[in-house]
Amino acid sequence: MATPTLDKVEDAKPASAPSPYITVTFRIRRYNPEISSEAEWQDFPIEIDPKERVLDGLHKIKWETDGTLTFRRSCAHGICGSDAMRINGKNRLACKTLIKDINPEKPITIEAIKGLTVLKDLVVDMDPFFQAYRDVMPFLITKGNEPTRERLQSAEDRERFDDTTKCILCAACTSSCPVFWNDGQYFGPAAIVNAHRFIFDSRDEGGEQRLEILNDKDGVWRCRTTFNCTDACPRGIEVTKAIQEVKRALITRRF
Ligand code: SF4
Ligand code: FES
Repeated sequence: MATPTLDKVEDAKPASAPSPYITVTFRIRRYNPEISSEAEWQDFPIEIDPKERVLDGLHKIKWETDGTLTFRRSCAHGICGSDAMRINGKNRLACKTLIKDINPEKPITIEAIKGLTVLKDLVVDMDPFFQAYRDVMPFLITKGNEPTRERLQSAEDRERFDDTTKCILCAACTSSCPVFWNDGQYFGPAAIVNAHRFIFDSRDEGGEQRLEILNDKDGVWRCRTTFNCTDACPRGIEVTKAIQEVKRALITRRF
């Protein structure tokens, strides 16, 4: 029997697979106060696999085309909440948005989230957002002596605030809220979600205090139930429902 030659073995290689890459245009709203007081759109055509994420495209631009492009990101896996931005007019996390899911045949618009001051490109000043979060005291408050063992809680009691424990403080909800756009003094959905997380925790004793804080003119009553916040939340939290529950607790004082 004839021994196969090296040439024949090489001939038997399969034809190379077609490239998965396509050309996509990222249309990014650029702003640099050191250069101009006006923001402007800039197009970046990139070669990218549509199964990659918007964050991968932004990295490509930053690392290969324009190092001045400025945006926040950290974990790249939907946990840290730092890369919320408006993608095709909707608040999303860049690291959780696949190119193929947002019609790559048209330019993909990317801009900073609304309602917070833009510092540069896609980076906004998050201080007012985190101040509202701090104002609702997002920590367990208890009175009396420290217990000698852990504070027990039933599965049913834990369930009451399970949804609102999932918040990653990305600000997608607050910056999609028309009330917040018009008046940045409003606490905003994210702060109320985080107040909810403690108000309905059976181990907490600061519920009354938090409710009084949210009873303020800039508090929970400003919500107009537009559901923008629920639609925007990348964690699937029922934000509007949580706000309604806090409103109800304020009226009934039962929580
Ligand atoms: S509630 Fe959702 S959208 Fe709002 S800050 Fe938390 S994770 Fe982000
Ligand atoms: S980079 Fe952390 S949530 Fe997207």
